[in-house]
Amino acid sequence: MHMSLQFQTQAKIVLFIYFFWWPIVESQVSNPLPRPARALDATLQDYAFRAFIRPRTGVPFDGIVPPYLTGIEISAMRLRSGSLYRRGVPTFKEFTLPVGLREQPYVERLVLVYQNLGNWSTTYYSLPGYIYLAPILGLLAYNGSDLTASNIPELDLWASEEAIRINFGRISPIPVGLVAKCAWFDLHGQVNFTNLLSGNVCSTTEQGHFSIVAESAVPPAPVPPAPSEPEPAPSEPTPSGRKKNESKIWGIIGAVTGGTALLVLLTLLILWAWRYKKRKRIRELERAADAGEALRMTRIGSMRAPFALGTRTMPNFESDFGV
Ligand SMILES: *[C@@H]1O[C@H](CO)[C@@H](O)[C@H](O)[C@H]1NC(C)=O
Ligand SMILES: *[C@@H]1O[C@H](CO)[C@@H](O)[C@H](O)[C@H]1NC(C)=O
Ligand SMILES: *[C@@H]1O[C@H](CO)[C@@H](O)[C@H](O)[C@H]1NC(C)=O
Repeated sequence: MHMSLQFQTQAKIVLFIYFFWWPIVESQVSNPLPRPARALDATLQDYAFRAFIRPRTGVPFDGIVPPYLTGIEISAMRLRSGSLYRRGVPTFKEFTLPVGLREQPYVERLVLVYQNLGNWSTTYYSLPGYIYLAPILGLLAYNGSDLTASNIPELDLWASEEAIRINFGRISPIPVGLVAKCAWFDLHGQVNFTNLLSGNVCSTTEQGHFSIVAESAVPPAPVPPAPSEPEPAPSEPTPSGRKKNESKIWGIIGAVTGGTALLVLLTLLILWAWRYKKRKRIRELERAADAGEALRMTRIGSMRAPFALGTRTMPNFESDFGV
């Protein structure tokens, strides 16, 4: 009984430490960095929104990307969600938006941000084993109420009637013997392949990033060094480099705190084992003493035996050592 009480106390301490420290350790292990492509989406949203000097509904405004992202094109269009749903948009760059587009959560005005990643496509959306025949084009929907907002989440956008069409225009020639496919990356980085509608047209029912790819003739053999690290983490010069360093430091801090927590746990365990051993010895001594007493009792005679049994259950000896 005392043993289990003591054990419970120890267990509580261990659990407390576990819950207190574990989130720090775990967050370092399972989610070291947001995906570079998502960080890029946030940057491009910010720069696309800056294109609205005197926003006019339903008109595309081309934005200017920061110099370290030269080669990427962005554009933004602000719409009332009701009119987007009823009328669609016949052309927004390569995209044709049909009637019946819905968003979640509902907003009165939304902004569609267009991206053409150009020569940065493979940097941010590497697809081992495939050849890009067109640049990555992105279409993302945002709450359009506050045009100075940055770091805002995408809305869910989906086509409830017809599909959104993407006409890629001129694409690279399809290598002989290969089949071109539409590739669609959702916002979690999951890629899906579908058939082309025609030579250079893809369709989608959701937002995301799109391109036309061909499976490369050589199976994905020349990628042995990077199977566990699918993102080659583009070597951007400016802000994210600092962030990477910061996160490295946090990683070290996480490892140190994790190590400390482990050390504390180990110490507690050893302490507990030591106490358990000591307690066991006391038990043995107790039992030996009891046996001696019982022996004396029987020698004195059967009449005094009940009293002897009474003294046996007295916990005095044990409680002196409790806790
Ligand atoms: C893309 O091209 C631009 C010049 O047009 C260049 O500055 C940039 O470094 C290129 N990006 C990549 C990833 O090659
Ligand atoms: C859209 O943005 C406006 C202004 O920031 C905010 O008041 C509103 O709650 C936002 N709507 C949604 C659905 O987030
Ligand atoms: C995309 O592909 C995954 C499997 O690769 C599948 O589970 C998922 O349903 C697909 N999504 C769509 C919208 O087709």
